[in-house]
Amino acid sequence: MSLEPDVESRRKFLSRLSLGLSALAGAVVSVPIVAYLLSPLLRPAQRQWRDLGLVDNFRIGETVEVAFDEPSPLPWAGQTARTAVWLRRTGPVEFTAFGLNCSHLGCPVNWRPDAKLFLCPCHGGVYYADGSVAGGPPPHPLIQYDIQIVDGNRVQVLTRPLTFTQT
Ligand code: FES
Repeated sequence: MSLEPDVESRRKFLSRLSLGLSALAGAVVSVPIVAYLLSPLLRPAQRQWRDLGLVDNFRIGETVEVAFDEPSPLPWAGQTARTAVWLRRTGPVEFTAFGLNCSHLGCPVNWRPDAKLFLCPCHGGVYYADGSVAGGPPPHPLIQYDIQIVDGNRVQVLTRPLTFTQT
């Protein structure tokens, strides 16, 4: 028994539509995964000196958040291409730069000058002024970045990829 031509052509159409939608769904799911797996190749140069401004923009003894652009942002990064460090001027040309992100799961930490502590709002992580862990779940101190002074008056930070570990 053969199907009527209308029914058969409708079946073929629905079958092709189903295959097309399956291929589209597969692409929607796989493109971000492939992009993530290839991201180390797409962003090879993450260690770069980034300018933070003039030395005299910072007061000795103060810790301030200083924002800068990621060295090699992905084209679709948008606002996330902007990052920052906690910068402390400790002398005429001496600085310390701490990573913004908690070593637990990466939430941005806040500097509390009154308590002289970095506090993480996510799970209560606490860091001393030198970046070492004072309490809570963070397994490691805050990342510290290398700093250099160029042209005698500009502060630069050497970026590097973030790493997080769970305990
Ligand atoms: S992310 Fe900071 S304590 Fe968990």
